[in-house]
Amino acid sequence: MNLPLHTLRAGVIGTGFIAPVHIEALRRLGVQVTAICGSTRAAQDTAARWGIPEVYGDYNHQALLRSPNVDVVHITSPNKVHVEQSLAALAAGKHVVCEKPLGMSPAETRRVVNAAKKATAPVFAVNYMCRFFPAVLQMRAMVQRGDIGRVMHVQGHFFQDWLLHDTDYNWRVLASEGGPLRAVGDIGTHWIDTVSFILGARAESAFAHLETFHKTRKRPVGEVKTFASGNPSELVPYKVDTEDFGSVLLRFGKAAHGFVDGVHANASVSQVAAGWKCSLYVGIYGTTGSLQWEFQQPNEIRVGRRDSPDQILQRGTAGFSEDVAGFTDYPGGHPEGFPDSHKMHYRAVYEHIASGRSSPILFATAEDGHHEVRLCDALLRSHQARRWVKV
Ligand SMILES: NC(=O)c1ccc[n+]([C@@H]2O[C@H](COP(=O)([O-])OP(=O)(O)OC[C@H]3O[C@@H](n4cnc5c(N)ncnc54)[C@H](O)[C@@H]3O)[C@@H](O)[C@H]2O)c1
Repeated sequence: MNLPLHTLRAGVIGTGFIAPVHIEALRRLGVQVTAICGSTRAAQDTAARWGIPEVYGDYNHQALLRSPNVDVVHITSPNKVHVEQSLAALAAGKHVVCEKPLGMSPAETRRVVNAAKKATAPVFAVNYMCRFFPAVLQMRAMVQRGDIGRVMHVQGHFFQDWLLHDTDYNWRVLASEGGPLRAVGDIGTHWIDTVSFILGARAESAFAHLETFHKTRKRPVGEVKTFASGNPSELVPYKVDTEDFGSVLLRFGKAAHGFVDGVHANASVSQVAAGWKCSLYVGIYGTTGSLQWEFQQPNEIRVGRRDSPDQILQRGTAGFSEDVAGFTDYPGGHPEGFPDSHKMHYRAVYEHIASGRSSPILFATAEDGHHEVRLCDALLRSHQARRWVKV
């Protein structure tokens, strides 16, 4: 029998841009958020704002992990501490939702895979929440039913412009903080995970061309929250060691459903694309039709046909099948978006825990998170060697 979700208690590590997205989604699910960890000041402020009873300052995640009032840990800290905090949470017997990317290198993310696959290990999920947009689940069902025939090719982009100016700064720009691939590692992996999920297959080989347009940038002194705007008085120049743009080619393996085998995909990824705020676009092209979806218009899918009129399928209407009924809460015409994808993701993870692991695993596992980091490693090696690389 399923436990009600409000019997599960969450602790959140990190207090920046994405932490409140987790907290708000958990609250909407009825999950108790019992603990917060970050810098002392930010943890206190976040606790006061959200009414979180246990506060662990000084970035002391070990103290949060010792709390008997935390069942699931949400890791929303910067990439460089994900692996250390994931391993510590698993060792403390806590279930984990870790932000993407799972870590900085395949060698370190492999350690999380090994820890998460032990027989007694708690549930582990990586926050590739784009899987839980109803439109993405719907496209997955349509591909796997053969509604667009055999998939021939996939095309798309993930474009943002928040790092366009050389004075735009975030820890992600530094390889030592975010990992050696920035645009591709940070947002490109959302695109790749979404496509893998829709196709039901993983990328097996990869080719990349990367560009760093701002070889030197200027940064304020001290920590800067993601998407923060301001006018700092003191800026210091620094050399940039991560890419602003990536052109990525992928070859996907075979899917069990028989409609995907050796599919070629190409994507552009940019954090300096003026005018685009958060545009993840996917086009899936099959022998009898195509599917197109865009993150900023997430409630509809465009279905393209050669010999009959194109269609717009809308979430919450007859166009979306029963397959996605459990992943949408509001009727058609009442838009759901980014915060709802987080809510649906955490619902799937918490239901998996509450049902004693009897619900299907649609969320990204440690293995999936590790695969994305391996893929980034292959893309970087491909760029350096100017050739295709096996993942
Ligand atoms: N899934 C998504 O859509 C999505 C969106 C944005 C960010 N993210 C991911 O979330 C993570 C955080 O990104 P952000 O944009 O919120 O960054 P941010 O810089 O706004 O926030 C990071 C927070 O972590 C805190 N922190 C730093 N070191 C810490 C430590 N050792 N222990 C605990 N807290 C620590 C900082 O004080 C800050 O509050 C990144 O891994 C990023 O890739 C995911």
